[in-house]
Parts: sequence; structure tokens; C-alpha cells
Amino acid sequence: MTSRDVRVCADREAMSRAAAGLFADVALQAVRERGRFSAALSGGGTPQRTFALLAGPTYREALPWPSIHFFWGDERAVPPEHRASNYAQARRALLGEVGAPPGNVHRMRGELGPLAAAEDYAARLREFAGEGRAWPRFDLALMGLGTDGHTASLFPGPISEDETRLPVVAASAQYEDRPTERVSLTPLVFNDARLVVFLAAGSAKAETLAAVLNGPYMPERWPAQRIRPTDGELIWLVDQAAASRLTG
Ligand code: 6PG
Repeated sequence: MTSRDVRVCADREAMSRAAAGLFADVALQAVRERGRFSAALSGGGTPQRTFALLAGPTYREALPWPSIHFFWGDERAVPPEHRASNYAQARRALLGEVGAPPGNVHRMRGELGPLAAAEDYAARLREFAGEGRAWPRFDLALMGLGTDGHTASLFPGPISEDETRLPVVAASAQYEDRPTERVSLTPLVFNDARLVVFLAAGSAKAETLAAVLNGPYMPERWPAQRIRPTDGELIWLVDQAAASRLTG
């Protein structure tokens, strides 16, 4: 059963601190219980402060980085050194700072182009999952929310058949000035996670957040609604500005 939990933080900084604290708690618990922690990170601007906090004095020494594995929920079809690469952003803010072992950093290879990168990542997920599984059950999936309702690189529009049967898909969409060609995990993988945490901050997200959380279920219009863990927990960490149109 999915439980949903919306936590409204005073501002973006408080939301980022709450996200870093949650990451640390679930990481320590997973390593204690299962020997390793796997997280799928999101791109975009919202999680960057959380990454920086995790690399800062409170957590850098406290977390067992050699047991923490990083994956991505989505990536742009660009090389790893590109400024729009989600991997590059996380490397600069977090991975490089804490000395994450290279073998623990499972990036999507955007430089292959979207289709080949999706196939390549599906193979990597299979390998990491082991035991005949097609993908790992992530301990944490960190998600963002676009003003158009997208999350990861699942954009508004008809849901493709591939999205309902494959763990990773190629995607193409124009959003702000970001690269159009992308790779994304699908809801099959996100909804299998033990914990999914959405971050949303700022008044530009307020209408969208209200539509996603309070509106009718319209998964083609609001892709973030496709994320409903089947046997995991769903937490929304939002700031007051993003929460300003929520009801109930
Ligand atoms: C990406 C993302 C994407 C992002 C949203 C929100 O690679 O673009 O993973 O889904 O999370 O677009 O982006 P912001 O945090 O910048 O608002």
C-alpha cells in the first residue's frame, strides 16, 4: 500500500535541509539492514542545495560513502562533461566532494544518444539488481516537478507502450532551454522503490503541485501522478511558496 505524506517547509533552504536529513537517515538504515544504499537522483536545479548539504560538514564524515550507490532517474543526451548533464551537476556538488568510489556511480551514458543510452542503462540496472531481476529496488528515488507536470523525463502526452513495459526509455521534449533529447527511468522502476521523495519549491510550481496532488488523476496531463509506489512510501517535501495553492 502506498502512503503519501506532504511536508511543507518554510522555504527552499528548509526543504533542502529536510531532504538531506531524509537521505542520510534512509542511507544509514539501508546500509545497516542490507549492507548498501542505492539512490536514483534527479536533475534540475531543485536538488542542488541538497547535494551541497550532503557534501558539507554535517554529512560528509557521517555517511558510509563506499556503501552508497548513485543512479539517475533521468539524463539529458549530452556527454558527461556537458554543463546540462545531470551527472555533471551531481558530480560537482556531491560525488566529487565526498569521494564517491567510481564503481558506485552508475550514470546514464547520454553521449550514446537517447535510444542506445536507454538500452545501455537497462543492462546496467539488470547487472546491479542481480538474481534474475530486471532492475534494482531503489532505496530512494529523488524526483523533481516541472511546471508542466513532468517528472524525471516523463512528459505530458500519451503514455507510450514502452513506458509500460521497459525500465528505461528514450524521451524527447522541449522544456525551458534544456536539451531536448533525454533518457528516463519509467514508473515501473520508480514505483518499485522503497521510498520516493519529490522536491518542489517556488511559487512557479504552485498551480502544478495543486493539480498533481489535489486534482483528478490525469496521468497523461500530469506525469508526476504516474509515480505511485506499489509497496513503498511517497513523501513530498515542498516549500510554502509551492504549497500555496494546496487544499486540504
Ligand atoms: C531533468 C529533471 C527534471 C527536473 C524538473 C524540475 O533532468 O530535467 O530530472 O525532471 O527534476 O524539470 O526541474 P527544476 O528542479 O530545475 O525545477
